Amino acid sequence: MNSAISLQKVSKSLGNREILKNISFTVEPGDIFGYLGPNGAGKTTTIRVILGLFKPNSGEVSVLGEDVSKDEIRAKVGFVLEADGLYDNLTAYENLDYYCQLYDVPQAKDKIEEMLRLVDLLDRALDKVAAYSKGMRQKLALARAMVHEPELLILDEPTAGVDPSGQIEVRDIILNMAHKRGKTIFLSSHNLDEVQRICNRIALIDKGEIKIYGELEKLRREMGRREVVIETLITTTEQSEILDDVLSDLQTLPYVRSCYREANKLYLNLDGEVDVSKIVAILSGKNIGVEEVRKGEVTLEEIYARAVKGEEQ
Ligand SMILES: Nc1ncnc2c1ncn2[C@@H]1O[C@H](COP(=O)(O)OP(=O)(O)O)[C@@H](O)[C@H]1O
Ligand SMILES: [Mg+2]
Repeated sequence: MNSAISLQKVSKSLGNREILKNISFTVEPGDIFGYLGPNGAGKTTTIRVILGLFKPNSGEVSVLGEDVSKDEIRAKVGFVLEADGLYDNLTAYENLDYYCQLYDVPQAKDKIEEMLRLVDLLDRALDKVAAYSKGMRQKLALARAMVHEPELLILDEPTAGVDPSGQIEVRDIILNMAHKRGKTIFLSSHNLDEVQRICNRIALIDKGEIKIYGELEKLRREMGRREVVIETLITTTEQSEILDDVLSDLQTLPYVRSCYREANKLYLNLDGEVDVSKIVAILSGKNIGVEEVRKGEVTLEEIYARAVKGEEQ
């Protein structure tokens, strides 16, 4: 099956600044793909490139396996950009009706009602959008992006500026679209918590470069697996010197990237899939008892901090 979105080595300059630097990632059908990055990272620029609104200076872009400029591909894509594309002086119903005409949606009346129900705005269908809250606008914008039943939805910061309860509603709608209606979703966000909650795969962009890319669970596992905390039974200050000795021994091992000590605890950063029992064996060879071995847990926040900090060092 074709990828939903594929970018290969895409660069984009605006003015004389390179905004996107050699960006590659693919979004697979069925993904809720989180495109995460701080403000100014290049998220919206990437989305513009994906939608064919910006031509990249170099690299390849495809959407549903084709060039996005093709009409039949455009018909399979729905999107919500920063400007929500709604008309303030029209009602919610009229807004959706307008988009139904634009996309030649058959039985528009039924579709509009279905969409308004989906985003829980049926009772506000006849209100002008000017009276809507930001959260209601975002929900209506999602409905608008869905009237033609696209396969792929591209959403630029769908919860930005929406109050917390509205954010929950918007996320529920996105999950519903993905899980119940089989849509592939690409969403950008600067909100780690949001991406952590709803996305299965992510790419992290910072200053126009992809820093991390992959399945969220796998990233967590891989990064977590390497971190081990060993609580030893060493107590007195005198004995803790033994730990310092063993630390310098451990440091020389090829699969130990780094290690340090806090009181009787050893913190190790290991390579790949090293068996922790090796380390425990080394400790017991030196008569150091082990109370507990814990594998580190990594949150997306830590992954993010490391990736973004890595650049500053
Ligand atoms: N039309 C433009 N001309 C020049 N620079 C731009 C333009 N649009 C965005 N930029 C710059 O590109 C960078 C990335 O912007 P953007 O893609 O909007 O980031 P994000 O959506 O992640 O906040 C920013 O430094 C921004 O100032
Ligand atoms: Mg943006």
